[in-house]
Amino acid sequence: MDNPVDSRALDLALDLARRGPLTENPQVGCVVLGPGGEVLGQGWHRGAGTAHAEVAALADAAARGHDLARTTGWSAVVTLEPCRHTGRTGPCTRALLDAGVARVVVGAPDPTPTAGGGAAELRAAGVDVVVLDDPRAHELVRPWARAHRHRRPAVTWKYAATLDGYSAATDGSSRWITGPVARADVHARRAQHDAVLVGTGTALADDPALTVRDASGAPLPQQPLRVVVGLRDLPAGARLLDGSAETVHLRTRDPREALAALWERGVRSVWLEGGPRLAAAFWRAGLVDDVVAHLAPALLGSGRSALGDLGATSIGDALRLQLTGAHVLGGDVVVLARPTDPTPGPVPDQTPSDQQQEA
Ligand SMILES: NC(=O)c1ccc[n+]([C@@H]2O[C@H](COP(=O)([O-])OP(=O)(O)OC[C@H]3O[C@@H](n4cnc5c(N)ncnc54)[C@H](OP(=O)(O)O)[C@@H]3O)[C@@H](O)[C@H]2O)c1
Repeated sequence: MDNPVDSRALDLALDLARRGPLTENPQVGCVVLGPGGEVLGQGWHRGAGTAHAEVAALADAAARGHDLARTTGWSAVVTLEPCRHTGRTGPCTRALLDAGVARVVVGAPDPTPTAGGGAAELRAAGVDVVVLDDPRAHELVRPWARAHRHRRPAVTWKYAATLDGYSAATDGSSRWITGPVARADVHARRAQHDAVLVGTGTALADDPALTVRDASGAPLPQQPLRVVVGLRDLPAGARLLDGSAETVHLRTRDPREALAALWERGVRSVWLEGGPRLAAAFWRAGLVDDVVAHLAPALLGSGRSALGDLGATSIGDALRLQLTGAHVLGGDVVVLARPTDPTPGPVPDQTPSDQQQEA
C-alpha cells in the first residue's frame, strides 16, 4: 500500500471491525478522514440489526461536531466493499454519496458474485474508489464467507495448555493452566461467538458454567448458547443446566450433524472449548477454521494432551497450520493459527451486505 494515510486508516478500520461479533454478519470497520487525513469518525458493525460500519462512522463524525453537509475532501476507509442494497438501513453507497464523500478506500471486495458492485456504483457517481485487496481485510471476512459457503457455523477451537502441550494433569485437573489475563481474553472471545461448545467429557470432568463474565465475575446480559455434544447424561445439578444461559445437549457423536443442527438454530459461529477427544473429532472431520491456543510457561511432563488422536504416526503426517498471530497475554502467550482454506472462492448464497440489510 503506497499511501501511508490510507495504510494507517485501514489498520484502524481493521481493529474496529474486530470488535464486532462473529455472528450472522461479517465484521466490518470504517474510518472517515478529513481532507488532511485526520480521523473524523470511526465505526464498526455491531451485529445483526445495527448500523453498518460506514453509517456508524459517519454518525460518529457528526456526533464529534463535523458537519455532514460540508464534507469537502472527505474519505472513507472501509474494510469491506460498501453494500449497494436497499434494506432496513439503506445502502451504504447511498449513505456515502449523500454525505458527499469524495474518496472511498476498500480493504477487500465483497466475496459474493451477486453483492459486488458497490465500488462500481460509487465510481459511476464520481467517487474516487481505491480497492486495496489487503490480505488482512480478506481474512476478516473469511470466517463469515466460509460458514456461508459450507452452510455450517465457523468453528474456532480454543485450548489452554502447558508449554509441553498438556491441557489437564493426570488426575484430570486443569484449573487453572493460564493466568487471569488469558482467562479474560477467553471471555472476550467467547462473547463474540453465537455458541460455546464442549463434549460431555469436559462437561462431566469440569462442571463448567461456560458463561461470559466481566472482570468482576458478573455474567454479561447477552450470553452465547451453551452446547454439549455426546451421549452421556449430565447430572441434574450441572452448572450448564443452571438456567444462567440457554443450553442444548446434542446427543450425537457426529460433529457434522451437531453443526448442522446448530446452523438450523441460527448459530453462525462456534467457540469450541474441547476437550481433547471432541476437538480431535472436529479436526478429523475438517471442521475447524481457526485456533486460539493459550500457552502457559509451565510443564507437566505427563497428563492429557491438548488434542486427541488425529491418526498421525510420523512427523510427515503432522497437520501443518498457518500462523496468523502470537502475542503475550499477562504471563502467558496466545497463538493464533488456522488451516489453509481448501475451498476458497465466491460465496454462493447471501451476501454480507444482504445479511446486514436483512437482519
Ligand atoms: N485445558 C483446556 O483447554 C481444556 C479444555 C477442555 C477440556 N479440558 C480437559 O479435558 C478433559 C476431558 O477430556 P475429554 O476428551 O474427555 O473431553 P471431551 O472431548 O469434551 O469429551 C469427550 C466425550 O465427548 C463425547 N463425544 C461426542 N462426540 C464425540 C466424537 N466425535 N468423538 C469422541 N467423543 C465424542 C464422548 O462422550 P459420550 O460417551 O457421552 O458420547 C466423549 O467421551 C478434562 O480433564 C478437562 O479438564 C481441558
